Amino acid sequence: MPAGTLVTIEGLDGAGKTTLAAALAQELRQRGRDVLLLREPGGVPVSERIRELVKDPRAEVAPRTEALLYAAARAQLVSEVLTPALESGRLVLLDRFLDSSLAYQGAGRGLGVQQIRDINLFATGGLTPDRTLLLLISPQAGRARQDDRGQEPDRLEREDGDFFAAVADAYDALAAQEPRRIRVIDARREPAAVLDQALAALADLIPPG
Ligand SMILES: Nc1ncnc2c1ncn2[C@@H]1O[C@H](COP(=O)(O)OP(=O)(O)O)[C@@H](O)[C@H]1O
Ligand SMILES: [Mg+2]
Repeated sequence: MPAGTLVTIEGLDGAGKTTLAAALAQELRQRGRDVLLLREPGGVPVSERIRELVKDPRAEVAPRTEALLYAAARAQLVSEVLTPALESGRLVLLDRFLDSSLAYQGAGRGLGVQQIRDINLFATGGLTPDRTLLLLISPQAGRARQDDRGQEPDRLEREDGDFFAAVADAYDALAAQEPRRIRVIDARREPAAVLDQALAALADLIPPG
């Protein structure tokens, strides 16, 4: 049993994951916690290179290849950083993890949630987050926020409304299946209110003050 704590942040593109991850890391560090903040795909050099490939709008990537690339990036992150960090008792905040693959590749790409679970079980050796914060927003509102951000959409962000509707439905289904692990947060609210909800959802794992 690892001594550390793994918290993952999930939700649609534009939901505010990266914004919350930064705010949460800052808040917990102010409380004196040693926080390791990482993102997926990425976090370590091999996985950052896979990230470039998988997000490249010019790359032609078949759905199964895409699923395996995400799983490969995850396997490297788990092996190189997550397992050692958790074994040494650290608190790890992760911007996307396993549930993103279940929702995007399993449901969005139609590969099947169970198949994606299986390849990820192989990739991670079964490492499961202690808590997952699911930022809930409509695909339309997420898209609008992304447009405001002013970055060119990556290969996945270019998908159509049906794709994101399937991803959103899959996230909802996962939250219903695993209510103890996955806590739903109203991401439509202002950043401070999103942070407050996140801290409340972590209070039993990370006691306040
Ligand atoms: N709670 C919020 N309310 C309004 N805008 C937000 C909120 N959280 C994030 N944003 C803005 O929305 C955009 C997308 O946020 P980001 O954190 O990058 O989302 P994600 O990482 O989920 O794709 C950014 O421009 C960010 O500043
Ligand atoms: Mg982000």
